[in-house]
Amino acid sequence: MSQINPYFSQIPQSYLFSEIAHRVAKHAAARPDQKIIRMGIGDVTRPLCAPVIQALEKASRDQGEAVSFHGYGPEQGYPFLRQAIQNYYRSLGAEVDAEDIFISDGAKSDLANLPELFSLDCPALITDPVYPVYRDSNLMVGRRVEYLDAVRENQFLPLPDSSQKAGIIYLCSPANPTGAAYTRQQLQQWVDYALEQDAVILYDAAYEAFIQEDLPRSIYTIPGAEKCAIEICSLSKTAGFTGMRCGYTVVPRALVREGHSLHDMWLRRQSTKMNGVAYPIQRAAEAVFSPEGLAACRENIALYQSNAACMARTLDQLGIWYCGGKNSPYVWMECPGGMGSWEFFDKLLDATGVVGTPGEGFGKNGEGYFRLSAFAAPDQVQLAMELLRNWLTKGD
Ligand code: MLT
Repeated sequence: MSQINPYFSQIPQSYLFSEIAHRVAKHAAARPDQKIIRMGIGDVTRPLCAPVIQALEKASRDQGEAVSFHGYGPEQGYPFLRQAIQNYYRSLGAEVDAEDIFISDGAKSDLANLPELFSLDCPALITDPVYPVYRDSNLMVGRRVEYLDAVRENQFLPLPDSSQKAGIIYLCSPANPTGAAYTRQQLQQWVDYALEQDAVILYDAAYEAFIQEDLPRSIYTIPGAEKCAIEICSLSKTAGFTGMRCGYTVVPRALVREGHSLHDMWLRRQSTKMNGVAYPIQRAAEAVFSPEGLAACRENIALYQSNAACMARTLDQLGIWYCGGKNSPYVWMECPGGMGSWEFFDKLLDATGVVGTPGEGFGKNGEGYFRLSAFAAPDQVQLAMELLRNWLTKGD
């Protein structure tokens, strides 16, 4: 007789963004007249830049000729891409060895799979609110999850409490969903704490390219991090790769626990369960890190940042409290009129057709808040802000 995994009953029945997609589809079917403006899931809208497309085309043609055909690739990813990422890290002020870089199909799967390296007795410490993948993927396999409050009083940036024991620590900076970003000194506190506890930080840097202020863009700019942190990053938001699927994870060989190299364990895990990322995608990713690729990606990011600035101006005019948007593509706003976050989601959708993400979906501390993503086209963001303003001020 088969027995099902009992822990699935401890997580919400559907993943947050699946639930939103379902509700929006139902709404759209009932209101075919209303235009939907999508500012919920952080999915990019700018097309891939020219250097990426050229590399993709060339690599696809390579696959059609016997002399340039590529079958299974190297387990950790092609050296040309790992070298390009190492150079990128250097430009951020971090020394990372190409040998420590693993190419992946994006940050989400690695963030969910990395806990396999640790005993199930080792709890996961996560912030609340948080990217729901950290929470759901650990609860799904029966790992205990402990929460750290990320609230307005601590600027949504909780710091370690030395009296609390920790095993795996998830940190995301700039944070999804609040957009809050740790300073160097704050990240140093986390690194010192992890070293003292023999804990391991899983550092999600998916939004590093949105940082505008003088803040760390990699945990490896913090002394000691190579002995206690794994960094996970993605080209989804940096280079518009949500539909391409490519990311990278750094597992330093200096990271050793109970005499075991986490790098070797991750290699063992990945080479057993994954056959890598397609050659044309890795060539396209390499092009992201060329001077032309980086410049084109910066232009797209600047456009998303101007969307976030437009949202911030509107919320300022409306007198609505918010944070984020400066070092992040997400604006985290208080729901007007004391509304609950799903209540605001429904009413906003009904009145304006604008889709956002209810804060409660990211954890209990998200109740009363709402996340707007800056990845829509600028004219759509402007229209959404006009509709929001009219609805809240004139009741239109
Ligand atoms: C989000 O909207 O939180 C992200 O786009 C989801 C993801 O990256 O998987």
